[in-house]
Amino acid sequence: MTAVLETIELTRHFGQIAAAERITTSFQIGEWVGIVGANGAGKTTFLNLITGYIKPESGQVLYLGRDITGLPPRRIVQLGIARSFQVPQLYAGLTVSEHLLIALAARERQGLNPWRPLRQRTLESEAMALLTRFGLQDDAQRPITELPEGKRKLLDIAVSFALQPRLLLLDEPTSGIGAEEAMQVMETLLSALRPSGVTVIFVEHDMEVVKRYAQRVLLLEHGRVVADGTPMQVLQGGGEARIPLARQRGRI
Ligand SMILES: Nc1ncnc2c1ncn2[C@@H]1O[C@H](COP(=O)(O)OP(=O)(O)OP(=O)(O)O)[C@@H](O)[C@H]1O
Ligand SMILES: [Mg+2]
Repeated sequence: MTAVLETIELTRHFGQIAAAERITTSFQIGEWVGIVGANGAGKTTFLNLITGYIKPESGQVLYLGRDITGLPPRRIVQLGIARSFQVPQLYAGLTVSEHLLIALAARERQGLNPWRPLRQRTLESEAMALLTRFGLQDDAQRPITELPEGKRKLLDIAVSFALQPRLLLLDEPTSGIGAEEAMQVMETLLSALRPSGVTVIFVEHDMEVVKRYAQRVLLLEHGRVVADGTPMQVLQGGGEARIPLARQRGRI
């Protein structure tokens, strides 16, 4: 198997807090990996270090064998790593399809293209195809303020996916929604993303989601990887007991 991403001894502190402590791991092409751990364990920090939102004190991030440590987030997106955030990054005044059109236009950097009217139509059909892929085709003209949270999550991820990443990092794709809707969101993601072969790393608090959708799980504690294996190995090997129940769904 080929690693799409490797981190080597990745380390970052905030004051006395170890948010990432010598994280050495790698992710294979097409793999779906769940990142779990208690509140403040360093899950978001790990995604921030990979995507350039924060810089490590030491250690390296290698993407397809290339050192991308310390590159600015925009450059990292251009190379093929996209992400979603814990809170969806959407704009209240825009419709669902406008979000995708803007993402696609940004990708194309179409600015001075003389064939712009023609290109516009192509982008519109690509936006529609993406919406259909993420089960949002009937919501295309709705302002995002009217969408239920599950669909807002899906739209946010569709926008990231529009950038044609090879690696997609999702920070809590099912937070803020009920257990049933969470499974629907994950099913939609599976059918939308799996055929593309994109590697998916997702932070998740719902252990049922992790068991069903992660091929591999990393358990973080105080910025360290303390377990790495199949969901069965990590969660049933005592890992689940190490994640405070207070953060599991329905008990927040
Ligand atoms: N920009 C920052 N400035 C100061 N401290 C930070 C910063 N980002 C993270 N931290 C601290 O680093 C630790 C790890 O935070 P992080 O957000 O990565 O945790 P998390 O595992 O994503 O938690 P949650 O499940 O609540 O989202 C926490 O103690 C947090 O307070
Ligand atoms: Mg977080």
